[in-house]
Amino acid sequence: MADLELTDDVPPEADDGVWLACIECGETFAPFDEIRYTCDHCEGLLEVRYADLPTFDEFEGEGTGVWRYHAALPFDVGVTLPEGDTPLHEVPRIEESAGVDSLRVKHEGMNPTGSFKDRGMTVGVRVAQEVGVDRLACASTGNTSAALAAYGARAGLETLVLLPAGKVAAGKIAQAALHQARILEVDGNFDQCLDRVQDLAGRGEAYLLNSLNPFRLEGQKTIGLEIMEEHYADYGEYPDRIILPVGNAGNTAALYKCFRELVKSGAITEDQVPKLTGAQAEGAAPMVEAIEEGYDETNRWEDVETRATAIRIGNPVNAPKALPGIRETGGTAVAVSDEEITEAQRELAGEGVGVEPASAASIAGLHKLREEGVVEDDESVVCLTTGHMLKDPDAAAAAGADPEPVPNDTDAILAHIDDGSVGGTVRRGASKAVKSPLALVAGGLGLAYLLRKLRSKE
Ligand code: F0G
Repeated sequence: MADLELTDDVPPEADDGVWLACIECGETFAPFDEIRYTCDHCEGLLEVRYADLPTFDEFEGEGTGVWRYHAALPFDVGVTLPEGDTPLHEVPRIEESAGVDSLRVKHEGMNPTGSFKDRGMTVGVRVAQEVGVDRLACASTGNTSAALAAYGARAGLETLVLLPAGKVAAGKIAQAALHQARILEVDGNFDQCLDRVQDLAGRGEAYLLNSLNPFRLEGQKTIGLEIMEEHYADYGEYPDRIILPVGNAGNTAALYKCFRELVKSGAITEDQVPKLTGAQAEGAAPMVEAIEEGYDETNRWEDVETRATAIRIGNPVNAPKALPGIRETGGTAVAVSDEEITEAQRELAGEGVGVEPASAASIAGLHKLREEGVVEDDESVVCLTTGHMLKDPDAAAAAGADPEPVPNDTDAILAHIDDGSVGGTVRRGASKAVKSPLALVAGGLGLAYLLRKLRSKE
């Protein structure tokens, strides 16, 4: 099992109080002297460690966004667009339907490129500058590539992105293309793209900026810092639970690191750590399997499929950091169906919060865990939504209401919208009402009425 204990010993390799430690064998390395993503000795995952860990006081007066938390990061400033400071939405209707004490939605889709990846990239690309590389690369289900392309462009660095052919949502490819990344479409799935890009990085051909790179997770841990600060400001207490969509388990690992550091600095006590709860799509759920079966590692799922393409991942590389995070905080992991994801995406949209399918897995997971009695009714819950709705316009259109064709005639339009069966009730209810058989029949009746009216005018 990984050793994630933060010790007080500062190794001689530390540079300005920052070093890298292997979570498996404990070996320590200088942070920026050489490029490495895993341990030289045992290939274990690396973690960034600090001689000094801040309490919340040290963030006061430091502005907003990721760099507010520079006291908890390896640099004071990075390549910034800027990122972070995302909304912690109230969602009263979902709160009521889920039946929990409080529910907030941390919408990471409101970052500059529309996903939480920007938080990792602002730090990761800064490190790339520090170690002196000129080509960046990542494998991606889409969002990482969009973020890397934008931050690479900002830094004036060449960027390669390896994407699984035919499995990346349109908005994400458009972003990577326009931000001038070279897009390499691999005939394989995400996990195979990651194998390839690790090979490229291993051969020194590019600097790897997937979440295997421990500096990425430093930026992403600021999600946790923002949640803790804002929840405390609003309620005078920290959330009981954070539910998040899981793919490579980078965010799960980053949040757990955030909480371990807050406990170590004395900012919070161990019993104030929120329960980390992962949600995966049923068709790509190796983390859920590992939690349910009590495995120390995940099994690699070769065949993965889900409508939530962002989390269509069978080999979560950060599992050795994330599984202990889920277990030690008293959390769990839950698998949700594509139908449940779509329903949750509609529910969020019905509160004005537009998310891509993967993001909605957190809300779908909450509902499921409430039904199973795992999440209790007195809990305060924060659900993370990881990407913006426009990332995947095809999925959004498919989940939403169909456009209703109307003639270019005001009376006819009024007749159409005044028809009770197609009018306000359908618009007010969730879009699924339009898709229900009753609404379809009603829609048909409305159309028949309109046609009759038009004919009578001829
Ligand atoms: N949600 C969204 C919208 C994502 O894009 C991802 C990961 C996740 C959740 C899962 O996060 O890996 O930290 O558990 N997307 C990566 C990518 C794999 O390439 O964009 P995780």
